[in-house]
Order: sequence, then structure tokens, then C-alpha cells
Amino acid sequence: MPAIVLIGAQWGDEGKGKATDLLGPRVDYVVKFNGGNNAGHTVVVGDEKYALHLLPSGILAPNVIPVISNGVVVDIEVLFDELDALIERGVDVSRLIVSANAHVITQYHRTLDRVTERFLGKRQIGTTGRGIGPAYADKINRVGIRIQDLFDENILRQKVEGALHQKNHMLVKVYNRRAILVDEIVDDLLSYSERLKPMVADTALVLSQALDAGKTVLFEGGQATMLDVDHGTYPFVTSSNATSGGAATGSGVAPNRIDRVIAVVKAYTTRVGAGPFPTELFDASGDFLRDNGFEFGTTTGRPRRCGWYDAPIARYTARINGVTDFVLTKLDVLTGLETIPVCVAYDVDGERHDEVPVSQSDFHHAIPIFEEFPGWDEDITGVREFDDLPKNARDYVLAVEAMSGSRISAIGVGADREAIVVRHDLLD
Ligand code: GDP
Ligand code: IMO
Ligand code: MG
Repeated sequence: MPAIVLIGAQWGDEGKGKATDLLGPRVDYVVKFNGGNNAGHTVVVGDEKYALHLLPSGILAPNVIPVISNGVVVDIEVLFDELDALIERGVDVSRLIVSANAHVITQYHRTLDRVTERFLGKRQIGTTGRGIGPAYADKINRVGIRIQDLFDENILRQKVEGALHQKNHMLVKVYNRRAILVDEIVDDLLSYSERLKPMVADTALVLSQALDAGKTVLFEGGQATMLDVDHGTYPFVTSSNATSGGAATGSGVAPNRIDRVIAVVKAYTTRVGAGPFPTELFDASGDFLRDNGFEFGTTTGRPRRCGWYDAPIARYTARINGVTDFVLTKLDVLTGLETIPVCVAYDVDGERHDEVPVSQSDFHHAIPIFEEFPGWDEDITGVREFDDLPKNARDYVLAVEAMSGSRISAIGVGADREAIVVRHDLLD
């Protein structure tokens, strides 16, 4: 029985919730394995619209066990706020389990995220300001606080002291901020421990046993391939592994148990925050995509940068992640364009590059080489069969598929949950 990884192919906000939805009733566990409340997923269920940040989207499905595994950084206050908001709307959240090994985002991580961004000036990354980077930095630096530390006050105090020792010097002497008191942090974290305790589990063991028992486990990646700390556009990335390999390290489920890798890719490209983006548009076409696609951040409300589809990025994603299926979303947003350019390669200082260049400076200089495809005017939001799409829309999908390194198994044709055209079963 399958373990399926679902990841973003570009710079996030591809509509990963739509692909999760498609797998819907066949999934028993949905695991968030990386990132934290920097993610923003809009999930529409019936007439209800939910914006989830930290919780896996599986929380909304009554038959699913949602899991926050070890690779996630957890802001516990945000976790409880999100749970309470769902409880208020009648969602049963009692099945959630959280890894004892997940790291915790505290007040000092949020503070450091904001002050370090400010000090970077025009070299800013444009983070979500949620403390993600500083929390992962502490994890790698071996001064992180884990969920399990909240259940032993002595250990917790020692660890918070260790974490704050250097940081307070930095905050006071470099950033001109007040020092953070150990007691303040310890008291805050301890105040969550009672409510948190029943949710905490050895999630790696739970998931392995679930797979042994023939259950279907979906690993839902936050962010996306081009924001991955190793394989993305470093340093303009998030601080976790958002690629399929992260599902193994971030959950403790061995890589050879993973059967399928589904990448969600938009029919064009968007990015929030700073960093290279070869196909970015600065003209009316960019506004067209932003307005029609409603491209504003779920987490921060920032307008997203918009550009044309970038096939070398899709091929890169296919290779890095071992993509078995693409889900192409938001094809409907392109309706009404006379022609639709697709980036097929880059020109870097006069030389053609068919693949994403390994050098950061080359990628910054990359000028897209476009191929143009004729557009369509028909409303496609009601289409459910591939053959019922206008010919130009079908040709666009087929052309993009041929360039992208894996089959396109489903196509999003509208914001509604049902607005999807399925070409191949994602689990087949
Ligand atoms: P995520 O971060 O990948 O989960 O994506 P977001 O939720 O941040 O952004 C995707 C947005 O696109 C959501 O508002 C979805 O409702 C919407 N969406 C998803 N698929 C489609 C589609 O095929 N067409 C249109 N028009 N909107 C879509
Ligand atoms: P979903 O899961 C789009 C971007 C931020 C910033 C960079 C680093 O909704 O696709 P961080 O706060 O993570 O240290 O910020 O990463 N970023 C996202 N962009 N979608 C996301 O998540 C993102 N999560 C982080 O804008 O450029
Ligand atoms: Mg999002």
C-alpha cells in the first residue's frame, strides 16, 4: 500500500490542497514533514473556506489521521489557535498527533527572524517573519528545543538557558534589543504542556506501523522545490527540505517505502519574497495573472510576483524529486490570453542553457527563451474531461507535458474543489 509524497514544483502556492483533495478518501494519514506556519494553504470544503498554516490539510477530513512529524518546526501558540478556530467551526481535531522530536518555535525565534531581516537591508529574503529560519538554525546548531523537552522542566530550563546565552548578547549588543528572560520562555512553553501532551507520539513508529498495516500515507510538503534549502535558489529559500527526500528525513519513514511522488505545478509561475525568477513579468500580463489567479499570499497577504511557465524548472523538479505525476493547476487563469509564452530554455550571457544553471549568478542573469502557444477564450471551469477542453488548451497542456519530464495526470480548471480534469489515476 502506498506512501505518497506531494510537493510543490515551483516557489510555493501551486495549489497543493487541490491534489490532496483529489486523493481524498483513499488516504488514511496526512503528514506535514517540513516547514511550519510559513505555509499557507487555502482549502475549500463545500461552501467553507479554510486557511491553514501549520496544520496538515488532512485535519479537515474526518477519516484521516493528521500528523506533524519531526521535520516540522512548531509554534505551539499558533498550533492551538488554529485548532481552536477549527473547533469553533465544528471540525473534529482530536486525531492530530505531533512528533516528540519536532522542534519548537519560540518568541526569540520570531524576534530574531524580524531583526535579522531588517539588518539585511536590501539583501532581505522577504521571510514570512514566523521564526522559521532561526528555529531551524538552532536545530542544526544543536541548541533547539524539542516538543519532548516541554515535559521535563529541568531539561527545558537548561536548554532555554543554553539557547539564550549567545542570543541575548546578540540581541542586546548587535541588534539593540532587550535581553529575553529564561523564565519568561520557560513559563510560556510550560503553559502549553498539559494540552499538548495527549497529542504527542513517536510519529515515525506510528507511520511505519501504518504502512505495515496496509494504510495509505500522504506526505504533504510545505513550500516547494525552488524554496528547498539545498536544491532551491539559495539563499532566497526557506530553511527546510521541501523536496521529496525531506519526506523521509522529516518523518523517519525510510525512502524505499515511498511509492509515488506527485508534484503540483501551476500553469504559470509565482513567487513571494525576494530572489531570482527568470520569467517574472513586470507589465500588464503580470497584472492579468495576479488578478485572474488571485495571487496574494495566504500567510502574509503580499501580492505574489507572477510570470510565465518555466519548463526547465519543471524538469529540474521532476529530476530532484523523482516525480511520477504532475498536477497542473490554474489552467483556467490563462483563459482569455491571445498567446501564452512558455520558457523552454535560458540565455545566459549569450549561451543557451536547457537546464537550470547550477551557478547562482547564472540563474540571476538567465533570460528566458520563450515559445508561444495560441490561447483560448472559452470558459473551461466546468470542463471535467480532457477531450472537452478547447483544442488550444489541450495543446498547451500536451506541449508543457512534453517539456516537463513527467506525465500531467490532473489539471486544475477552477478554484472549486471539483474543478479538476483527471487524465491518469494518481495512485496507479
Ligand atoms: P498551496 O500553498 O500550494 O497550498 O496553495 P495556496 O492555497 O497558497 O494557493 C493556491 C490557491 O489557488 C488557492 O486559493 C486555491 O483555491 C486556488 N486554486 C487551486 N487550484 C486552482 C485552479 O485550478 N484554478 C483556480 N482558479 N484556482 C485554483
Ligand atoms: P506554501 O506551503 C510561498 C518564502 C517566503 C520567503 C522564503 C523564506 O504556502 O507554498 P521563511 O519564512 O520560510 O523563512 O521565508 O520562503 N515562503 C513561501 N512562499 N509559499 C510558501 O508556502 C512559503 N513559505 C515560505 O516568502 O521568500
Ligand atoms: Mg500557499
